Amino acid sequence: MTIVVNDDASAEQVPVRRIRFTINGARKMAEVEPRLLLSHLIRRGLGLTGTHMGCDTTNCGACTVLVDGIAVKSCTMLAVQADGHEISTVEGLATASELHPLQEGFKDEHGLQCGFCTPGMMLAAKALLDRNPDPTETETRYWLAGNLCRCTGYDKIVRAVLDAAAEMRGA
Ligand code: FES
Ligand code: FES
Repeated sequence: MTIVVNDDASAEQVPVRRIRFTINGARKMAEVEPRLLLSHLIRRGLGLTGTHMGCDTTNCGACTVLVDGIAVKSCTMLAVQADGHEISTVEGLATASELHPLQEGFKDEHGLQCGFCTPGMMLAAKALLDRNPDPTETETRYWLAGNLCRCTGYDKIVRAVLDAAAEMRGA
């Protein structure tokens, strides 16, 4: 599948670069301006609007995705840097029939209110649990320090992540 993503109407004069990448298990090809942010490719080019844009300045973490399993703020990375890499967004967490344990955890522990920070929180938490299946509360809080939430006060988010960790360990 080819996706052409330009930043604005004058973009015809801007050279584009072809990139190939995988997102949520699907292989894609896109022609993008070198200046295009990965977050814009994901949201505007691919229509995966679960990746939210809060600050556009690397502060809030709402745009967090996984690139080769590493949590990345997608407003901080250029789309061309995704060439040859594997991206995961919140849309790829659940299967057709089951929520991911993190999604179950956020649901059960009321780890969200407005939900704006939630996709980024979940992806950041997934990167943590992929590396450390049994994090302490302190480790979880430290890991999520780059993701801001204006609603919950963080306690329920941390409980949601620890619940998911226990579920994934079969505890
Ligand atoms: S939108 Fe990327 S960190 Fe806030
Ligand atoms: S639930 Fe509203 S910003 Fe986190």
